[in-house]
Amino acid sequence: MQNIRFLFFRFFTGYSNVLQLKETNFTRLCKSKSMMTVNDSFPGPVIRIHRGDLVYVNVHNQDDFGVTIHWHGVKQTRNPWSDGPDHITQCRIQPGTNFTYKVIFGEDQEGTLWWHAHSDWTRASVHGAIVILPAEGTTYPFPKPDGEHLVVIGSWFSGDLNKEFEEFFSNQTFESLLDDNAFTINGEPGDLVPCGRETTDRYLVDYGKTYLLRIVNAVVNVELFFAISEHNLTIVGTDGTYTKPKVISYIMIAPGQTMDVLITTNQSLGHYYMGARRFTTFSENVSFDNMTATAILQYRGNYTPPVVPSFPTNLPTFHDSESGLGFLPLLRSLATPEHPVNVPLNITTRMFITASINLINYTHEGTEISHLGGSLNNITFMDPSSSVLLAYYRHISGVYTTDFPDYPPSFYNFTGDMHTRPMSVVGTKVRVFNYNESVEIVFQGTNLQGQASDHPMHLHGYTFYVVGMGYGVFNNETDPKSFNLVDPSERNTITIPKNGWVALRFLANNPGVWLWHCHIDRHLIWGMDTTFIVKNGETPETSMLPPPAYMPSCAVQSPIRIEDFRDSVELVDEINVN
Ligand code: C2O
Ligand code: CU
Repeated sequence: MQNIRFLFFRFFTGYSNVLQLKETNFTRLCKSKSMMTVNDSFPGPVIRIHRGDLVYVNVHNQDDFGVTIHWHGVKQTRNPWSDGPDHITQCRIQPGTNFTYKVIFGEDQEGTLWWHAHSDWTRASVHGAIVILPAEGTTYPFPKPDGEHLVVIGSWFSGDLNKEFEEFFSNQTFESLLDDNAFTINGEPGDLVPCGRETTDRYLVDYGKTYLLRIVNAVVNVELFFAISEHNLTIVGTDGTYTKPKVISYIMIAPGQTMDVLITTNQSLGHYYMGARRFTTFSENVSFDNMTATAILQYRGNYTPPVVPSFPTNLPTFHDSESGLGFLPLLRSLATPEHPVNVPLNITTRMFITASINLINYTHEGTEISHLGGSLNNITFMDPSSSVLLAYYRHISGVYTTDFPDYPPSFYNFTGDMHTRPMSVVGTKVRVFNYNESVEIVFQGTNLQGQASDHPMHLHGYTFYVVGMGYGVFNNETDPKSFNLVDPSERNTITIPKNGWVALRFLANNPGVWLWHCHIDRHLIWGMDTTFIVKNGETPETSMLPPPAYMPSCAVQSPIRIEDFRDSVELVDEINVN
């Protein structure tokens, strides 16, 4: 990995950097291809700052595809203009043009976040970590580590993802598209894949020290297990917030999430594999490629290195639901005076949102079409052709409607035997909130179409507290009694467990237009998303910032719309949607 530190130019108001987007050749799994990367590196460069810093990033697009960039987990206080999801807060930065993002972190954000492209599936190769160090004069809520290492876990697709993506929407040829061909740690799939051994990522450590690993799950479509042979992990942070230390032998990390983990190098001098592999809740008899991406934790010193590093037997197998789902409720916020918890206690707005893969029907050029689609409360979100933010700001009608419902259209045994109803409705339906509403959302997973699986849900512009989680259908009388309102985990991405529910709370105090979506891209492009608009408060300080002088034009539109996909139900069943 190109672990360059940005050389920051200090301006009066912040730091400034340039990201150059262009095609670069890479070889993995013995095959070469050209793909879109930033500054010729995969993963892309690291943005390293201190808490409270303001960052400007100028993105130059020298590629052939339009792109947007999202600063995942960054609160972008009052500034949706720089949030990035295409068709939600902006249109694409077209080839040959550039756009400057003003990246505004929340005052309390510290730890690890990341950035990635937010248009089509470009983020597979266009992403990088964001490291937020403690502010000058302050320190970590744990002893200062002796060193730190980034562990960015990504996907490798052997084909040209942009081309395949377009074909996916037009010709139904998408076998290779639907499965990440390998996973990578800092860009390298490691020793266990063909042609991997020469370039495996290595982290050199000294005996008897403590190191901080900043782990990012940047893969496109799956949750992951991660473990290090013979070494325990102490989780101290997630999604740019600190947690109570949690000692464990493996982690489960969903796409979009980050985890800060301490390790103590107290084992005999040697080489130890760090491994990352798929975790899936999809039916156990499906055979997935069980490939494990590896990197090496290598002790310095005088010893005869082993022929093969020791393998992490503590890494759960890919269908080990007990380890995967059992991990979900483990984390707690730090809840100290320096890192306080502010869980909303007087809820003014309650929503119950089902997340499903279901059937959508519509007429296309005179033919009845029916295929699988993602949905929230049975709404399959359709991207508008311009931008929701622009339409909202300029009071342009006809781009979206404000009738995203607070409840699903009917209540059935959501997690019971396979259901096929209700169908979903395709539309650009958003939910509007007043400033400072105290919101509680229960996300309920469903088994519609027999397609129950995990859904890591991500909210832009906010963090939220995960106050409860459980299996089966949420019971609104008994389940709230077990909510944790004292030290719940603070996240920007949380998994709705397969056939279960998750409850979260946040205060709607960041005015703007914010996307909510499943971070499995396959589900996102199928419409498992919606948009929250939070209105301005009464003062300038509680209102959205004005737009920058230049926003990319919406005149050149993406050729890809949800109406265009024509994959048949049978075909999708066949490939077993994760
Ligand atoms: Cu990681 Cu909508 O983003
Ligand atoms: Cu999903």
